Amino acid sequence: MSTVYLNGEYLLKEKAMVSVDDRGFLLSDGLYEVTPAYNGRLFRMEHHMARLRHGLDALRIDYDTVGLAEIHQRLLSENVLKSEDVSIVYLQITRGVAPRTHYFPPEGTKPTVYAFAGAFHRPDPGRWEQGYAAITVPDRRWARADIKTIGLLPNVLSQQAAVDAGVADSLLVKDGVAIEGSHNNVFGVFDGVVTTHPPSHEILHGVGREFVMELARGLGMTVVERAIPIEEMRGADEIFFTGTTTEVRPTVELDGQPVGDGTVGAVARALYEAFKIEAVKEVAGG
Ligand code: PDD
Repeated sequence: MSTVYLNGEYLLKEKAMVSVDDRGFLLSDGLYEVTPAYNGRLFRMEHHMARLRHGLDALRIDYDTVGLAEIHQRLLSENVLKSEDVSIVYLQITRGVAPRTHYFPPEGTKPTVYAFAGAFHRPDPGRWEQGYAAITVPDRRWARADIKTIGLLPNVLSQQAAVDAGVADSLLVKDGVAIEGSHNNVFGVFDGVVTTHPPSHEILHGVGREFVMELARGLGMTVVERAIPIEEMRGADEIFFTGTTTEVRPTVELDGQPVGDGTVGAVARALYEAFKIEAVKEVAGG
């Protein structure tokens, strides 16, 4: 039985009710965040909150994020997730409950705030070592993919296309450029250079993406942020996806064709190992 947070209260999930007039339900008028915790400690919470703040400001949702860290911590402890290796806290803030209009509701309408904690299960090492397949899908999202809005229909359809194709990831392609995954960022490795799309309006500025770039630099690798044409990406030595619920996932097959030599590459492996070790070290304060 899980305890969730809704509008100031901690309650059993089955008791948590949201109005049918909620603008999140009616209009997808809201934002979300997914923050990981290692050994029960939140990883880079301040980065997730900064991204949330960016979204709240862009959408003009009046909400003070002070207090969210405490809510996250309490959900982790109430749900006995402290002992889990990795867990996640999902947070959603909508513009609140009001009669449906396309314009903003009356001033003073309180945002709806909902959060829950859950376990995250890493793949077993043998499965990870086999690598994963991905397909390309047209990027049909709106022009502000840097805002983590709950309006995820294009992401849902893209990831369902991956599931239908029996693969792990969908790589969104826009104007001939490899943008990111449906719920993760994407990297290509070209002659040892770790390459990913720049932090524009086209991508979500992933906390995992930033962490992986830091890890790569720390390991002495060259990191470049530039748009990667999809045809160039197909010829990458390695491709991998990054994110909170992805960590580092190597792609060994794209649209049915092998990536590099068709096996998991040394760069993805080194970064995944570093990711697991350094995330735990960082939350432990070392
Ligand atoms: N997704 N790109 C997109 C479109 C995403 O939805 C996500 C995260 C990322 C990676 O961001 P981060 O490294 O900060 O998790 C990139 C979350 C996990 C989700 O939708 O559940």
